[in-house]
Amino acid sequence: MKAAVYHQYGPPEVVKVFDVAKPVPQAKEVLVKVHTSTVNRTDTGFRSAEYFVSRFWSGLLKPKFPILGCEFAGIIEEIGADVKTFKKGDAVFGFNDKTWGGHGEYLCIDEHEGIAHMPEGMSFEIAAAMTEGAHYALNNIRASGIQKGQQALVYGSTGAIGSAAVQLLKSMDVMVSAVCGSTYLDLVKSLGADEVIDYQTQDFTQTQKRFDFVFDAVGKTSFGACKPLLSSKGIYISTELGKNGENILYALTTPLFGGKKVLFPIPTLKQADVIYLKELFEKGAYKPIIDRTYSLDQIVEAHSYVESGQKVGNVVIRVSE
Ligand SMILES: NC(=O)c1ccc[n+]([C@@H]2O[C@H](COP(=O)([O-])OP(=O)(O)OC[C@H]3O[C@@H](n4cnc5c(N)ncnc54)[C@H](OP(=O)(O)O)[C@@H]3O)[C@@H](O)[C@H]2O)c1
Repeated sequence: MKAAVYHQYGPPEVVKVFDVAKPVPQAKEVLVKVHTSTVNRTDTGFRSAEYFVSRFWSGLLKPKFPILGCEFAGIIEEIGADVKTFKKGDAVFGFNDKTWGGHGEYLCIDEHEGIAHMPEGMSFEIAAAMTEGAHYALNNIRASGIQKGQQALVYGSTGAIGSAAVQLLKSMDVMVSAVCGSTYLDLVKSLGADEVIDYQTQDFTQTQKRFDFVFDAVGKTSFGACKPLLSSKGIYISTELGKNGENILYALTTPLFGGKKVLFPIPTLKQADVIYLKELFEKGAYKPIIDRTYSLDQIVEAHSYVESGQKVGNVVIRVSE
């Protein structure tokens, strides 16, 4: 089968398209013919190993799983002997950051991991982009403990995580202020944000509102800048470590004092989360934004674009034409 493969950490050019052996499903696994995948910041982070810590999962000296692509959508081609939930021919989508493989024409995944049936009306493009940004958003929103009617601020609401966060918070009836660039004000409003703040012309820290949750979805602001905006027990979460890893230090110390807190939850994904996102899609409450679509042969270009930090929502890869 054709796959985008990397055998060393480094720039986008370490990824090359090769013919490799087709995987064989174990008893509890399904074999998915991948139609679409994405290149996202999880893929580029593991590929570059810019943060050394990622190697504890991906392999200390070289990648353990040479085919990236944690998101996938496709059709089940074969099932293992013990598989009960899925059958040959089912259209499925999901997230696999344990063994990866979305950037290859076939992947295997345990039927109880992050895989679900595609609902009616969902395209392969949308299906591929359903889970990465959204499950990070979901983990952080749940960790914050925010409730219906409370106020949240999403900084960086055009990223995969930020654009999902706005929609997920609105699905919980939270009041959302969203910060984004001038070009995307209408787009972010269309996601349901109650207020949109243009970071290029306005200083969001001057708002008179106070927030129960400030979510820095692009890791470009700081607890210091956002602390005055938090309510007395407000929570700040960032998707990045912050300057000199300060968000980890704050997450260890601020909970000791009982006031405004920084949290740094470790994201996880269960099959129930994929099903939850699918149900939100069915209700019309969540739909990932697609920025660009590339073919598998354009994988290096896709990595470079995603790594630029400029994508709006998600970048899809057509794996099987
Ligand atoms: N902790 C984890 O496990 C984990 C996993 C995945 C990703 N991440 C991190 O999460 C962050 C977000 O990832 P993502 O995929 O959602 O992001 P992304 O799609 O790469 O986000 C880029 C978006 O953010 C906007 N942006 C850039 N600078 C901004 C600023 N100063 N203020 C407001 N908006 C700004 C960009 O628009 P404009 O610049 O055009 O305005 C662009 O639309 C990344 O830093 C990534 O490394 C963490």
